[in-house]
Amino acid sequence: MIVIPGPASLGLGWRIASELGVEPHTVEHRVFPDGESYIKLTKPVQGEAVAIVQTTSPNPDTRLMQLLLMAQTAKDFGAKRVVAVIPYLAYARQDKRFLDLEALSLDVVVRLLEAAGVSDLVVVNIHNEASVRAIEAKHGVKVHNLSAVPLLAEYLKKKGFDRAYSLSPDKGAIYIAEAASKVLGGGFNFFEKTRDRKTGEIRMEIKNLDIAGRRAVVFDDMISSGGTMAKAVEALKAQGAERVAAACTHVLYMPGAEEKIRTAGADPILSTDTIETPFSRVTVAGLIAGKLRELG
Ligand code: R5P
Repeated sequence: MIVIPGPASLGLGWRIASELGVEPHTVEHRVFPDGESYIKLTKPVQGEAVAIVQTTSPNPDTRLMQLLLMAQTAKDFGAKRVVAVIPYLAYARQDKRFLDLEALSLDVVVRLLEAAGVSDLVVVNIHNEASVRAIEAKHGVKVHNLSAVPLLAEYLKKKGFDRAYSLSPDKGAIYIAEAASKVLGGGFNFFEKTRDRKTGEIRMEIKNLDIAGRRAVVFDDMISSGGTMAKAVEALKAQGAERVAAACTHVLYMPGAEEKIRTAGADPILSTDTIETPFSRVTVAGLIAGKLRELG
């Protein structure tokens, strides 16, 4: 399979190619002063299966547009199959209409990818696992949703969090804490979280956990404003947790998030390289390469 690292995922794209033992195809790209993107593939793709690696944060709209340009161009020049590797899939949080007349954003994104010739979508910890089935029921795109949680837990296990308690910030993400607990071995639980859809204000019910003097890790799919993670960490510290790590697959790196989470008492804060930030401690290259090997 040909690996094409897109402009948003140069590091990860090259690491995936290296895991697969192939030379990546580079892409010529630039952004014009008015914000439009220019894309040119640099090697033929006729008759080949190609994997285009392009995450979609920061600047999700530009990154998505570049991905569409790369996918359609590969198709136009005869690629037999186009796999979009989107380590962090933007717009996945809007997988339902929460309010009347809202856009169904995830659906629109998948429609565009399909129209550009994408047959397979490889993502890491999509926001809502249930949306995978919803996409496949409605579109001709196969979705491969990989989990980086065991990798994060393995990393933490080596850094003194063996037997730590694993927590998810809400009930819907309990499967994340459960998967982490299989590696760390210290049990798992979840917070009761509610968010006001209009104001964005978060409320988290704090359980009486047997956490005093113990280590804990809060696992989430993403950190955006940092509000959710900070509240969870704060609650655990208030209940006497000795040390709390904040781990997530994707850090969107919004201004102020780090300070909020550190002030709450988290140490360390870590994520994967689905979006490259100073918190990327774990690479998903091997995980994605394994899936691409399967897809041939
Ligand atoms: C929500 O359902 C997600 O899993 C995350 O908890 C959320 O997106 C994190 O956002 P923030 O950092 O803005 O609280």
